[in-house]
Amino acid sequence: MLESLRSVVSLKPIERDATKRRLGSAANIEDLRAIAKKRLPAGVFDYIDGAAEDELAMARNASRFSDRTLVPRVLRDVTTIDASVEILGRPAPMPLIIAPTGFPRIAHPEGELATARAAAAHGIPFSLSTMGTRSIEEVADVSNGPKWYQVYVWRDRELTKDMLERCKARGYEALYITVDTAVLGRRERDVRRGMTLPPKIGLDTFIEGAMRPAWVWEFLRAEPIVFSNVAVSTARLNKGTEDGASAVTLAEYVNSQFDPGLSWDDVAWIRSQWGGPVILKGIQSVADAKIAASEGIEAIALSNHGGRQLDASPAIIDLVAPVADAVGGQTEIYCDGGVRRGSDVVKAIALGATACMIGRPHLYALAAGGEAGVNHMLDFFQSGIEQTMALTGVAAIADIDRSAINDPH
Ligand code: GLV
Repeated sequence: MLESLRSVVSLKPIERDATKRRLGSAANIEDLRAIAKKRLPAGVFDYIDGAAEDELAMARNASRFSDRTLVPRVLRDVTTIDASVEILGRPAPMPLIIAPTGFPRIAHPEGELATARAAAAHGIPFSLSTMGTRSIEEVADVSNGPKWYQVYVWRDRELTKDMLERCKARGYEALYITVDTAVLGRRERDVRRGMTLPPKIGLDTFIEGAMRPAWVWEFLRAEPIVFSNVAVSTARLNKGTEDGASAVTLAEYVNSQFDPGLSWDDVAWIRSQWGGPVILKGIQSVADAKIAASEGIEAIALSNHGGRQLDASPAIIDLVAPVADAVGGQTEIYCDGGVRRGSDVVKAIALGATACMIGRPHLYALAAGGEAGVNHMLDFFQSGIEQTMALTGVAAIADIDRSAINDPH
């Protein structure tokens, strides 16, 4: 009996590499989140993990994905599954995009360099944020994959213009204009903790740091975290705009530097300065999607900023079908907010999206294991999309349509 048990029960050999060991135990994004929570100081984790006010928009984003079910068709040959797509004319092995996020270096000292390398290895677009902590040039130096840049529109237009010049010089292929941040949403976890960026290393961080020694050690050893893209442009232009080297609350910074007067005319101005494809990020209504399409905008990103802006915003997956019905075919449609599995991506595609974007998942992965963590997470999405396609009976992304998804209610 013991012998036969021994022949079927085999224990995993012990992994000596600590990062591999951690990642080996992460079966999904929630596991990566749990590892990130253990490794990051609470204020840093909450900045990444939190959302606006009661965090209802964030919860709705996720629950509306789970409310939906697919229509599994059987006895269709799924020997070969092909999840590849074209995103803005470039082939990608899966319909996924790394969304721009602020301050990746608070999750891991390499920050965007690690994520950009992993995205390039997986052949999907990497997006760098204006609020990024690695510069346009540093990212271009490590990645020859597709790179996109996200701009907020500064009160000082020269700064925006300079960033666009730098992106053009380094081969960035597309530009997001984020349109949902006229003012910063009220993130109450950050309010409670008095969270500043970069995080202040005060007594409280040190007390906490006793339980997060790896993070504190890396943070103190690494070069200081600044808004790298702003720092380079302000130096080029000889301007004194705050580069984030001194700790401020994000709300103070955003509200003093970003232009709440942004309008469709500014979008036209940015497009004329840029000359390449533009993605409007933060569209949350059919009405605005129609304006974007009539203006000839190349792509819209349906997004409520992961629930970090307006807490009363609709769940993003609920917008996909109505927007696709209104403007599908005229503009590419991306969506983010609650995308945690390959099956979520397949659901979004079935409703009419071109691709999904992921924000928090890549920051959790970065915190859990740096570049290896992001690779682990992207492998999880690639295999999850392919497995879902096989179990749904669709061999190619182009074959996924509304018949593959049940109406939620
Ligand atoms: C920045 O864009 C943030 O959501 O914190």
